Amino acid sequence: MRENRFEATSSFDRIDEPDVVIICVPTPLTDAREPDLTYIISSAHAIAAKLRPGQLIVLESTTYPGTTRDVVLPILSAGGLKPGEDFFLAFSPEREDPGNPQFSAPTIPKVVGGLEPASLELAAAFYGKVVVRVVPVSCPEVAEACKILENTYRAINIALVNELKMLYDRMGINVWDVIEAAKSKPFGFQAFYPGPGLGGHCIPIDPFYLTWVARKHGLATRFIELAGEINTAMPAYVVSKIADALNEDCKPVKGSKITLLGMAYKKDVDDPRESPGFELMELLLKKGAMVHYNDPHIPVLPPMRHYPNLRMSSQELTVEHLRSQDCVLIVTDHSAYDWSWIGQHAALIVDTRNAMKNAINPRARIIRA
Ligand SMILES: NC(=O)c1ccc[n+]([C@@H]2O[C@H](COP(=O)([O-])OP(=O)(O)OC[C@H]3O[C@@H](n4cnc5c(N)ncnc54)[C@H](O)[C@@H]3O)[C@@H](O)[C@H]2O)c1
Repeated sequence: MRENRFEATSSFDRIDEPDVVIICVPTPLTDAREPDLTYIISSAHAIAAKLRPGQLIVLESTTYPGTTRDVVLPILSAGGLKPGEDFFLAFSPEREDPGNPQFSAPTIPKVVGGLEPASLELAAAFYGKVVVRVVPVSCPEVAEACKILENTYRAINIALVNELKMLYDRMGINVWDVIEAAKSKPFGFQAFYPGPGLGGHCIPIDPFYLTWVARKHGLATRFIELAGEINTAMPAYVVSKIADALNEDCKPVKGSKITLLGMAYKKDVDDPRESPGFELMELLLKKGAMVHYNDPHIPVLPPMRHYPNLRMSSQELTVEHLRSQDCVLIVTDHSAYDWSWIGQHAALIVDTRNAMKNAINPRARIIRA
């Protein structure tokens, strides 16, 4: 490592200048729910075209175990440069908790797996300069599998509480109170929370990278499939709760005015990728509801791959607007919302986040979903 210098450029022609090149391009799923590695592959080709001796290449994109060795390495070494001698290759997963001010990248330990000892040593030395702790592992596959384990663990545990939410609701038990009570156990339990469905570009997607590679090895990832089934059924469940709640008011969904609060996939971020808000909006529109949304972080809905026709701007939240709505649906509990104020002016609130738990004197009828 010669000097600590970072410079932004949009020119791939200069890719031979840095000592370290980090690939963290998107890794989505295809329509057939298979890994779409086109971004990684095109980045690797662009780097290979200019690869020079001494460079360290690190893949950070979340992907299935084996990608660094089986996909990236052959592209980089096609020109004749030898890994571990002429250039170096490692995998180090990105770890981030967007919207959580408690963690910034330098405070999060970084797992690093090198193709061979020299690559590991270089990559660990590089990340050691910028993060609090480097966790070296034996090979890229362990680092790749580690990231998928972390996200699969979340997807499965969220599915578990989503299933319990539906059961406990039918039994008249508040699942949020149950989780709060279980949290008092000082060991062996970590709290996960139910919601309107998975969102973001990691948790709903990454586990299926493992499912795909498992199939290639003749195995099924049954936990992942089941979790996917439960989590993707959540928007339809929420819509059924809205229909029941409106029914109590002698109103059909068709023609009812419904405002969704929060289109970002999680609290206090402006990222709508994979947000269940889009699925909820589409299901409600299909049933003939008159739908608005408000999100202080998303003034206009961007075109989404699976929902290209949902074009809408954020509706200003006023007393008049809230009073005019048959139902307000809480999709994402941004801190900017004043739940007491909303509760005082809305007539019916369907709450997927337990956001109304501390609302003062709500006039609204509140339904957990
Ligand atoms: N953002 C997170 O919180 C987070 C957390 C953990 C893991 N990841 C993983 O990191 C990867 C990237 O995610 P992201 O949210 O940063 O994605 P992103 O959509 O923000 O894209 C990252 C960058 O890749 C660039 N890019 C796209 N295609 C490219 C190409 N062909 N060549 C060069 N650059 C290209 C984009 O311009 C963008 O700057 C994914 O594999 C994701 O699963 C992200």
